[in-house]
Amino acid sequence: MEETRRLLRTVRKVAVLTGAGVSAESGIPTFRGPGGLWRNFRPEELATPEAFARDPRLVWEWYAWRREMIAAARPNAAHLVLARMEEFYPDFTLITQNIDGLHHAAGSRNVVELHGNIWRVRCLREGKIMEHREVPPAQIPPTCACGGVLRPDVVWFGEALPEAELNRAFAAAQACELMLVVGTSGVVQPAASLPYLVRRRGGTVIEVNTECTPISQIATRSFFGPAARVLPELWEGVAV
Ligand code: OAD
Repeated sequence: MEETRRLLRTVRKVAVLTGAGVSAESGIPTFRGPGGLWRNFRPEELATPEAFARDPRLVWEWYAWRREMIAAARPNAAHLVLARMEEFYPDFTLITQNIDGLHHAAGSRNVVELHGNIWRVRCLREGKIMEHREVPPAQIPPTCACGGVLRPDVVWFGEALPEAELNRAFAAAQACELMLVVGTSGVVQPAASLPYLVRRRGGTVIEVNTECTPISQIATRSFFGPAARVLPELWEGVAV
């Protein structure tokens, strides 16, 4: 750990990739861990445009459940340390697959939300994107003033990621000296490819996860434990 702290003290260009595990200690279940299933559906069965076309009500009920948990959640020590890191490094990009907005709530500013945000909706008729914070939504599925059906402004399986966010994520992975990979199973593309890109360029990849993942194979170093404990430990004494 001391060696990684030394490295964290010397590098200047840092990227972070987070997944559901970073929010686990805020009380939000991960997708592939215990408590992640809603009514026994796997995320791959609900987070698709086909599922929404077939049964928008069912998909919205899942998001209503998730909104309720997220609305009650507060950033944990892992989110807070990542926000502090941004103040320390001249070049810092936080790439997240999470849609819960907790990195912003913790004070992070340069955040790339690769999979969208649960507090935004998109009108299927006009394509307009709006903030939408009803918990639970007053109407399911909610509708736009124009009469169109609203969908969560998130990325579903089989959909392209927002181009601007994807470009920012790849630019950060191309430029960074070190990437911290926190709480992601590393199985959903293209996010999972970012640490590989860093390693191919000769950069350092530091993983923080409670379990071994495919990324552990290529990581320079993996620290196993809950992010809200391990990240503050790693950061201790770095920014003095
Ligand atoms: P997953 O649920 O697949 O993985 C969560 C990871 O966090 C696992 O590797 C856990 O071991 C780890 N973990 C759990 N608790 C932790 C803790 N307290 N501290 C550190 N690590 C912990 O979630 P993601 O990798 O984020 O996409 O999933 C990627 C994408 O698949 C999601 O963005 C979502 C999902 O389906 C879409 O909906 C498009």
